[in-house]
Amino acid sequence: MARAGAARVHGVDSGAASVAWATAHYASRNGDGPVTVARGDFARMSTDELLATAPTPLPGRLVVTSNPPYVPLIPEADALRRSISGGTDGLKWAPAIIGHGRALGSDLGLTIGSYSTPRTAVRLLEDAGYRVHAVTLCPLPLGDFTLSHMERVLALEEAGEAVLWRAGREVPAYFIVGLASRWVGDGTDIDAPAGRLTGDGLLELLRTAARSRTPRLETLDGPRPDGWTGPLRVLDLPPATVRHHW
Ligand SMILES: C[S@@+](CC[C@H](N)C(=O)[O-])C[C@H]1O[C@@H](n2cnc3c(N)ncnc32)[C@H](O)[C@@H]1O
Repeated sequence: MARAGAARVHGVDSGAASVAWATAHYASRNGDGPVTVARGDFARMSTDELLATAPTPLPGRLVVTSNPPYVPLIPEADALRRSISGGTDGLKWAPAIIGHGRALGSDLGLTIGSYSTPRTAVRLLEDAGYRVHAVTLCPLPLGDFTLSHMERVLALEEAGEAVLWRAGREVPAYFIVGLASRWVGDGTDIDAPAGRLTGDGLLELLRTAARSRTPRLETLDGPRPDGWTGPLRVLDLPPATVRHHW
């Protein structure tokens, strides 16, 4: 984010190993530079308490982003892998994160999976005063833990609330879904020239992507659902061996 132009970046994670790794790899060397990382629990701490974990005051106008645990899991599996578990619908953490963005009146970047009840995610954002502005999709194989605990993912797929990428694949994959949302506040709406991406529209977008045969997600080049014409990116992640996750 700093390389993309953010003047100041502060990261918060509740896991000691995550904070140690991110600090070693990304924090500014002198500890009070533009990039800092601290331990904090966004579900238990107030927005002011989270801001206070930064070693130097953060600027007034902020953007909140989060890549929280988002895999829908039954409670027994949830307890086994807290760093990826998003509760039974994959959105366990979303209300807390959206609440912090709302408290700050900030634009918000939230990551979910295409199986994490995307329709509900858009509704939570809209109810809180956000409108989805841009979407980033990134195809990814399902992880081993998810593959061995598929009860909730399959139940949500069956109910039409989750999208897996199965086209021509032996093992299904999913899409990481980045939702960049603009804060429009209570009541006032923006008359976006790109139209409005609804929850139904996002589900349709994901179903369209899931008909693709290649990670370029070529089916997205046709007309968009709901006439939404906002920014849509497709990304390839580096291989798992160079990604770090606890
Ligand atoms: C999917 S990983 C993302 C890790 C890293 N931020 C990234 O984007 O690569 C989810 C992270 O959320 C952290 N986490 C889970 N619950 C949290 C909470 N209540 N407060 C702060 N961090 C939390 C976990 O420790 C884990 O590192």
